[in-house]
Amino acid sequence: MESVGPVKHVPVLARTLAERIILSQDAVMVDATVGQGGHSYLFGQNLGKNGRLICFDVNEDSLRSAREKLKDLECEVLFVRENFSQLKPVLEKNGIDKVDFIFADLGVSSAQLADISSGLSFQQNMPLDMRLDKRLKTTAADIVNRTDEKSLADIIYKYGEDRASRRIARFIVSARQSEKITTTAQLSSIACKALGQRAKGRRSKIHPATRTFQALRVAVNNELENLEVLLQTAPDILKAGGEIAVISFHSLEDRIVKYDFREKKADGIYEIMTKKPLIADREEIVENPRARSAKLRIARRCEIS
Ligand SMILES: C[S@@+](CC[C@H](N)C(=O)[O-])C[C@H]1O[C@@H](n2cnc3c(N)ncnc32)[C@H](O)[C@@H]1O
Repeated sequence: MESVGPVKHVPVLARTLAERIILSQDAVMVDATVGQGGHSYLFGQNLGKNGRLICFDVNEDSLRSAREKLKDLECEVLFVRENFSQLKPVLEKNGIDKVDFIFADLGVSSAQLADISSGLSFQQNMPLDMRLDKRLKTTAADIVNRTDEKSLADIIYKYGEDRASRRIARFIVSARQSEKITTTAQLSSIACKALGQRAKGRRSKIHPATRTFQALRVAVNNELENLEVLLQTAPDILKAGGEIAVISFHSLEDRIVKYDFREKKADGIYEIMTKKPLIADREEIVENPRARSAKLRIARRCEIS
Protein backbone atom coordinates (compact mmCIF):
# COMPACT_ATOMS: atom_id res chain seq x y z
CA MET A 1 0.00 0.00 0.00
CA GLU A 2 1.21 3.51 -0.76
CA SER A 3 0.75 4.81 2.75
CA VAL A 4 0.88 8.57 2.97
CA GLY A 5 1.48 9.53 6.58
CA PRO A 6 -0.07 12.34 8.53
CA VAL A 7 2.25 14.94 6.94
CA LYS A 8 0.17 17.90 5.87
CA HIS A 9 0.80 19.47 2.50
CA VAL A 10 0.45 23.26 2.54
CA PRO A 11 -0.75 24.52 -0.87
CA VAL A 12 1.72 27.00 -2.34
CA LEU A 13 0.83 30.46 -3.69
CA ALA A 14 -2.73 29.99 -2.48
CA ARG A 15 -3.31 33.69 -1.77
CA THR A 16 -1.86 34.72 -5.13
CA LEU A 17 -4.11 32.23 -6.93
CA ALA A 18 -7.18 33.37 -5.01
CA GLU A 19 -6.50 36.95 -6.07
CA ARG A 20 -5.91 36.05 -9.72
CA ILE A 21 -8.38 33.29 -10.48
CA ILE A 22 -12.02 34.23 -10.11
CA LEU A 23 -14.40 31.42 -10.99
CA SER A 24 -18.14 31.76 -11.41
CA GLN A 25 -20.33 29.54 -9.20
CA ASP A 26 -21.16 27.23 -12.08
CA ALA A 27 -17.62 26.98 -13.45
CA VAL A 28 -16.14 23.66 -14.55
CA MET A 29 -12.55 23.22 -13.45
CA VAL A 30 -9.86 20.59 -13.70
CA ASP A 31 -7.30 20.10 -10.97
CA ALA A 32 -4.72 18.04 -12.87
CA THR A 33 -2.72 17.29 -9.70
CA VAL A 34 -5.18 17.20 -6.81
CA GLY A 35 -2.69 15.91 -4.20
CA GLN A 36 -4.22 16.38 -0.76
CA GLY A 37 -6.84 18.66 -2.23
CA GLY A 38 -5.54 21.92 -0.75
CA HIS A 39 -5.85 24.01 -3.90
CA SER A 40 -9.03 22.25 -5.02
CA TYR A 41 -10.60 23.09 -1.69
CA LEU A 42 -9.76 26.78 -2.12
CA PHE A 43 -11.24 26.90 -5.62
CA GLY A 44 -14.07 24.46 -4.87
CA GLN A 45 -15.43 26.55 -2.00
CA ASN A 46 -16.46 29.18 -4.55
CA LEU A 47 -18.30 26.71 -6.76
CA GLY A 48 -22.02 26.20 -6.30
CA LYS A 49 -24.12 23.10 -6.87
CA ASN A 50 -23.93 23.53 -10.65
CA GLY A 51 -20.14 23.87 -10.55
CA ARG A 52 -17.92 20.90 -11.36
CA LEU A 53 -14.47 19.98 -10.17
CA ILE A 54 -12.58 17.18 -11.93
CA CYS A 55 -9.62 15.99 -9.88
CA PHE A 56 -6.77 14.00 -11.41
CA ASP A 57 -3.96 12.23 -9.60
CA VAL A 58 -1.92 9.15 -10.39
CA ASN A 59 -1.33 8.44 -6.73
CA GLU A 60 -3.91 6.45 -4.83
CA ASP A 61 -3.07 7.90 -1.43
CA SER A 62 -3.23 11.47 -2.73
CA LEU A 63 -6.70 10.74 -4.09
CA ARG A 64 -7.77 9.21 -0.78
CA SER A 65 -6.66 12.35 1.11
CA ALA A 66 -8.33 14.60 -1.46
CA ARG A 67 -11.63 12.68 -1.22
CA GLU A 68 -11.67 13.28 2.51
CA LYS A 69 -10.72 16.95 2.21
CA LEU A 70 -13.28 17.74 -0.50
CA LYS A 71 -16.20 15.65 0.76
CA ASP A 72 -18.30 18.59 1.94
CA LEU A 73 -18.00 20.79 -1.14
CA GLU A 74 -21.30 21.80 -2.66
CA CYS A 75 -20.19 21.34 -6.26
CA GLU A 76 -19.98 18.03 -8.10
CA VAL A 77 -16.53 16.49 -7.63
CA LEU A 78 -15.17 13.74 -9.85
CA PHE A 79 -11.95 11.91 -8.88
CA VAL A 80 -9.89 10.22 -11.56
CA ARG A 81 -6.84 8.07 -10.99
CA GLU A 82 -5.23 8.95 -14.27
CA ASN A 83 -2.22 10.75 -15.59
CA PHE A 84 -3.00 14.32 -16.60
CA SER A 85 -1.65 13.49 -20.05
CA GLN A 86 -4.99 11.66 -20.42
CA LEU A 87 -7.00 14.81 -19.75
CA LYS A 88 -8.79 14.91 -23.08
CA PRO A 89 -9.96 11.26 -23.31
CA VAL A 90 -11.02 11.28 -19.65
CA LEU A 91 -13.11 14.43 -20.09
CA GLU A 92 -14.62 13.04 -23.30
CA LYS A 93 -15.53 9.81 -21.51
CA ASN A 94 -17.33 11.88 -18.88
CA GLY A 95 -19.20 13.94 -21.44
CA ILE A 96 -17.27 17.14 -20.69
CA ASP A 97 -16.37 19.16 -23.75
CA LYS A 98 -14.89 22.40 -22.43
CA VAL A 99 -13.80 23.74 -19.05
CA ASP A 100 -13.27 27.18 -17.49
CA PHE A 101 -10.05 26.50 -15.68
CA ILE A 102 -7.18 24.01 -15.72
CA PHE A 103 -4.82 23.98 -12.76
CA ALA A 104 -1.61 22.00 -12.26
CA ASP A 105 0.68 22.09 -9.22
CA LEU A 106 3.51 19.94 -10.51
CA GLY A 107 5.74 17.49 -8.73
CA VAL A 108 5.14 15.79 -5.42
CA SER A 109 3.47 16.70 -2.16
CA SER A 110 5.12 16.92 1.25
CA ALA A 111 3.17 13.82 2.23
CA GLN A 112 4.63 11.86 -0.69
CA LEU A 113 8.18 13.00 0.13
CA ALA A 114 7.75 11.81 3.70
CA ASP A 115 6.11 8.54 2.70
CA ILE A 116 8.59 5.74 3.32
CA SER A 117 7.27 3.72 0.36
CA SER A 118 7.77 6.55 -2.12
CA GLY A 119 11.55 6.32 -2.30
CA LEU A 120 11.66 10.02 -3.18
CA SER A 121 13.73 11.51 -0.38
CA PHE A 122 17.44 11.50 0.35
CA GLN A 123 16.69 12.92 3.80
CA GLN A 124 15.46 9.50 4.95
CA ASN A 125 16.48 5.98 4.04
CA MET A 126 13.83 4.36 1.80
CA PRO A 127 13.66 1.72 -0.93
CA LEU A 128 14.74 3.47 -4.14
CA ASP A 129 11.37 3.56 -5.93
CA MET A 130 10.21 7.08 -6.95
CA ARG A 131 7.09 5.95 -8.86
CA LEU A 132 4.24 8.35 -8.08
CA ASP A 133 1.98 5.88 -9.86
CA LYS A 134 2.65 2.42 -8.51
CA ARG A 135 1.20 0.91 -11.70
CA LEU A 136 4.35 1.98 -13.56
CA LYS A 137 6.80 -0.87 -14.12
CA THR A 138 10.20 0.82 -13.80
CA THR A 139 11.55 2.09 -10.48
CA ALA A 140 14.53 4.36 -9.87
CA ALA A 141 16.44 1.29 -8.62
CA ASP A 142 15.81 -0.40 -11.99
CA ILE A 143 17.28 2.61 -13.77
CA VAL A 144 20.39 2.97 -11.60
CA ASN A 145 21.15 -0.75 -11.67
CA ARG A 146 20.41 -1.49 -15.32
CA THR A 147 21.27 1.60 -17.35
CA ASP A 148 24.67 1.86 -19.05
CA GLU A 149 27.01 4.58 -17.81
CA LYS A 150 26.57 6.96 -20.74
CA SER A 151 22.78 6.81 -20.70
CA LEU A 152 22.79 7.27 -16.93
CA ALA A 153 24.99 10.38 -17.28
CA ASP A 154 22.61 11.67 -19.96
CA ILE A 155 19.61 11.22 -17.66
CA ILE A 156 21.36 13.06 -14.79
CA TYR A 157 22.42 15.86 -17.13
CA LYS A 158 19.17 16.21 -19.05
CA TYR A 159 16.70 15.90 -16.18
CA GLY A 160 18.88 17.05 -13.26
CA GLU A 161 20.99 19.65 -15.06
CA ASP A 162 23.99 18.43 -13.05
CA ARG A 163 27.27 19.34 -14.70
CA ALA A 164 28.96 16.53 -12.77
CA SER A 165 26.64 13.98 -14.41
CA ARG A 166 29.44 11.88 -15.94
CA ARG A 167 31.30 11.61 -12.67
CA ILE A 168 28.15 10.68 -10.75
CA ALA A 169 27.26 8.05 -13.37
CA ARG A 170 30.79 6.62 -13.13
CA PHE A 171 30.51 6.35 -9.34
CA ILE A 172 27.06 4.71 -9.62
CA VAL A 173 28.32 2.09 -12.09
CA SER A 174 31.38 1.38 -9.95
CA ALA A 175 29.30 1.06 -6.75
CA ARG A 176 26.73 -1.28 -8.30
CA GLN A 177 29.50 -3.71 -9.32
CA SER A 178 30.02 -4.62 -5.68
CA GLU A 179 26.44 -4.25 -4.45
CA LYS A 180 23.02 -3.61 -6.00
CA ILE A 181 21.77 -0.08 -5.27
CA THR A 182 18.37 -0.48 -3.64
CA THR A 183 17.98 2.41 -1.19
CA THR A 184 17.89 6.20 -1.22
CA ALA A 185 20.70 6.24 1.39
CA GLN A 186 23.01 4.26 -0.93
CA LEU A 187 22.33 6.57 -3.87
CA SER A 188 22.70 9.69 -1.74
CA SER A 189 26.02 8.47 -0.36
CA ILE A 190 27.29 7.68 -3.89
CA ALA A 191 26.36 11.20 -5.08
CA CYS A 192 28.12 12.71 -2.04
CA LYS A 193 31.25 10.65 -2.73
CA ALA A 194 31.17 11.52 -6.43
CA LEU A 195 30.93 15.22 -5.72
CA GLY A 196 33.18 15.13 -2.63
CA GLN A 197 35.27 18.28 -2.45
CA ARG A 198 33.50 19.67 -5.50
CA ALA A 199 30.25 19.87 -3.54
CA LYS A 200 32.00 22.00 -0.93
CA GLY A 201 33.46 24.20 -3.65
CA ARG A 202 30.10 24.64 -5.43
CA ARG A 203 28.44 27.87 -4.58
CA SER A 204 25.08 26.13 -4.54
CA LYS A 205 23.61 25.43 -1.12
CA ILE A 206 21.79 22.31 -2.29
CA HIS A 207 22.60 18.80 -1.11
CA PRO A 208 24.93 16.94 -3.55
CA ALA A 209 22.24 14.33 -4.27
CA THR A 210 19.48 16.84 -5.09
CA ARG A 211 19.95 16.92 -8.86
CA THR A 212 20.49 13.17 -9.20
CA PHE A 213 17.27 12.51 -7.28
CA GLN A 214 15.39 15.08 -9.37
CA ALA A 215 16.69 13.50 -12.58
CA LEU A 216 15.63 10.01 -11.61
CA ARG A 217 12.19 11.12 -10.46
CA VAL A 218 11.62 12.96 -13.72
CA ALA A 219 12.78 9.91 -15.71
CA VAL A 220 10.78 7.34 -13.71
CA ASN A 221 7.55 9.33 -13.98
CA ASN A 222 8.09 10.65 -17.51
CA GLU A 223 7.34 14.07 -16.04
CA LEU A 224 8.41 16.40 -18.84
CA GLU A 225 6.66 14.45 -21.61
CA ASN A 226 3.45 14.30 -19.58
CA LEU A 227 3.60 18.05 -18.98
CA GLU A 228 4.08 18.67 -22.70
CA VAL A 229 1.01 16.57 -23.51
CA LEU A 230 -1.06 18.44 -20.92
CA LEU A 231 0.00 21.79 -22.37
CA GLN A 232 -0.68 20.67 -25.94
CA THR A 233 -4.15 19.45 -24.98
CA ALA A 234 -5.17 22.48 -22.89
CA PRO A 235 -6.29 24.87 -25.67
CA ASP A 236 -8.71 22.25 -27.08
CA ILE A 237 -10.35 21.92 -23.70
CA LEU A 238 -10.47 25.51 -22.48
CA LYS A 239 -13.51 27.68 -23.21
CA ALA A 240 -12.74 31.09 -24.72
CA GLY A 241 -11.78 33.25 -21.74
CA GLY A 242 -10.90 30.14 -19.72
CA GLU A 243 -7.53 30.02 -18.00
CA ILE A 244 -4.70 27.59 -17.35
CA ALA A 245 -2.45 28.06 -14.31
CA VAL A 246 0.67 25.98 -13.75
CA ILE A 247 2.95 25.94 -10.72
CA SER A 248 6.38 24.47 -11.38
CA PHE A 249 9.26 23.78 -9.02
CA HIS A 250 12.32 23.51 -11.21
CA SER A 251 13.65 25.30 -14.24
CA LEU A 252 13.10 22.44 -16.69
CA GLU A 253 9.36 22.48 -16.06
CA ASP A 254 9.13 26.25 -15.90
CA ARG A 255 10.93 26.57 -19.24
CA ILE A 256 8.47 24.18 -20.88
CA VAL A 257 5.49 26.17 -19.56
CA LYS A 258 7.04 29.53 -20.49
CA TYR A 259 7.80 28.53 -24.09
CA ASP A 260 4.46 26.79 -24.55
CA PHE A 261 2.56 29.92 -23.46
CA ARG A 262 4.78 32.14 -25.64
CA GLU A 263 4.29 29.95 -28.69
CA LYS A 264 0.54 29.90 -28.22
CA LYS A 265 0.49 33.65 -27.71
CA ALA A 266 2.30 34.05 -31.04
CA ASP A 267 -0.35 31.81 -32.64
CA GLY A 268 -3.18 33.91 -31.18
CA ILE A 269 -4.30 31.07 -28.90
CA TYR A 270 -3.35 32.51 -25.51
CA GLU A 271 -3.07 35.83 -23.79
CA ILE A 272 -0.32 35.59 -21.17
CA MET A 273 -1.60 36.83 -17.80
CA THR A 274 1.76 36.66 -15.99
CA LYS A 275 4.53 38.47 -17.87
CA LYS A 276 6.94 37.16 -15.25
CA PRO A 277 6.21 34.08 -13.18
CA LEU A 278 4.56 34.83 -9.84
CA ILE A 279 6.59 33.71 -6.85
CA ALA A 280 6.06 33.43 -3.11
CA ASP A 281 6.85 36.36 -0.83
CA ARG A 282 9.20 36.09 2.16
CA GLU A 283 6.35 35.54 4.57
CA GLU A 284 5.07 32.52 2.64
CA ILE A 285 8.56 31.06 2.26
CA VAL A 286 9.14 31.31 6.02
CA GLU A 287 5.82 29.55 6.66
CA ASN A 288 6.27 27.00 3.86
CA PRO A 289 9.86 26.49 2.64
CA ARG A 290 8.56 24.39 -0.29
CA ALA A 291 7.23 27.63 -1.79
CA ARG A 292 10.81 28.88 -2.27
CA SER A 293 11.17 27.46 -5.76
CA ALA A 294 7.53 27.70 -6.88
CA LYS A 295 6.74 29.63 -10.06
CA LEU A 296 3.21 30.29 -11.20
CA ARG A 297 2.32 31.10 -14.80
CA ILE A 298 -1.20 31.80 -16.06
CA ALA A 299 -2.52 32.05 -19.63
CA ARG A 300 -6.02 32.85 -20.93
CA ARG A 301 -7.62 31.16 -23.94
CA CYS A 302 -8.41 33.71 -26.65
CA GLU A 303 -11.66 33.71 -28.65
CA ILE A 304 -11.88 30.50 -30.64
CA SER A 305 -12.25 31.33 -34.34
C1 LIG B 1 2.46 19.13 -5.49
S1 LIG B 1 1.28 17.86 -5.35
C2 LIG B 1 -0.24 18.71 -5.46
C3 LIG B 1 -0.70 19.29 -4.16
C4 LIG B 1 -2.07 19.93 -4.22
N1 LIG B 1 -2.11 21.08 -5.07
C5 LIG B 1 -2.57 20.29 -2.83
O1 LIG B 1 -2.79 21.48 -2.55
O2 LIG B 1 -2.74 19.39 -1.99
C6 LIG B 1 1.33 17.08 -6.90
C7 LIG B 1 0.40 15.89 -7.04
O3 LIG B 1 0.32 15.61 -8.45
C8 LIG B 1 0.39 14.23 -8.66
N2 LIG B 1 0.95 14.07 -10.00
C9 LIG B 1 2.21 14.29 -10.42
N3 LIG B 1 2.32 14.09 -11.74
C10 LIG B 1 1.08 13.74 -12.19
C11 LIG B 1 0.54 13.43 -13.47
N4 LIG B 1 1.32 13.42 -14.57
N5 LIG B 1 -0.77 13.15 -13.57
C12 LIG B 1 -1.56 13.16 -12.46
N6 LIG B 1 -1.11 13.43 -11.22
C13 LIG B 1 0.20 13.73 -11.08
C14 LIG B 1 1.25 13.69 -7.54
O4 LIG B 1 0.96 12.35 -7.28
C15 LIG B 1 0.86 14.63 -6.37
O5 LIG B 1 -0.18 14.08 -5.61
